[in-house]
Amino acid sequence: MSDGSDHGRKAFAEAIYAHQARGDHYLYGNQWGDPNHGTLRYLFERYVRRRKVPGNLRQVVRRYIQPYVRPGMTVLEIGAGGGRWTQFLLPAARIIIVETTPEFFPYLEARFGPRFEFYQSSGAELTGVGTGQVDYAFSFGTFVHTPPEVLDGYLAHLLRVLRPGGLAVIQYADKNKRAARLPGPKDSGFADLNPQRFEAMATARGFWLRTHDTRILNHSNVAVLVRP
Ligand SMILES: C[S@@+](CC[C@H](N)C(=O)[O-])C[C@H]1O[C@@H](n2cnc3c(N)ncnc32)[C@H](O)[C@@H]1O
Repeated sequence: MSDGSDHGRKAFAEAIYAHQARGDHYLYGNQWGDPNHGTLRYLFERYVRRRKVPGNLRQVVRRYIQPYVRPGMTVLEIGAGGGRWTQFLLPAARIIIVETTPEFFPYLEARFGPRFEFYQSSGAELTGVGTGQVDYAFSFGTFVHTPPEVLDGYLAHLLRVLRPGGLAVIQYADKNKRAARLPGPKDSGFADLNPQRFEAMATARGFWLRTHDTRILNHSNVAVLVRP
């Protein structure tokens, strides 16, 4: 697709196959930071080993997943990859995984068991997910790189699939932050978003903004949206 809505599908498929072929000992996704690391380990990884970790990811779990995900819930994750965040959704009764790269589905089942309902999106839609069924939706590591129209498309669909009062936790790139504006060949194509633009998009789609955390990560932000 030329609009970037299937951002990197071929590259992601090759990456997960290569990861499995090499028999890498780490879990796929942890190369971008392990959300199980406590504060000391995070500081060590970032400042001693100089790993490109965008922030204390354990705090993302503590603030934006664990307080919300409960047994009996239906949750949905957009762009789950190898399950770096999916692992914290497991208490839910029903987990819907939305991906443009279905090559991740067998990896997720091998890692967590046959727990999931999978939906291969064409890029910015949730057509295969029923209306008003989802209590909590989460996405991390996807809308930092996809074009803003992809996020906007998903916001429209999230409004439909979330139940009234349901939440969507969305991480997105913030071009106001230096780390999202790396010059020249190092620019890894962060999406052209910032807090003002994100809020305008979310509220235009009909969401209420419950929390907008612009401090927790160095190249991106986390927002908690409520479906009225
Ligand atoms: C950088 S990886 C992050 C994976 C995982 N969320 C993590 O943080 O480890 C981005 C993931 O988003 C998926 N993706 C990219 N564009 C997408 C889209 N338009 N809709 C759904 N998933 C998408 C990719 O297939 C990939 O699994």
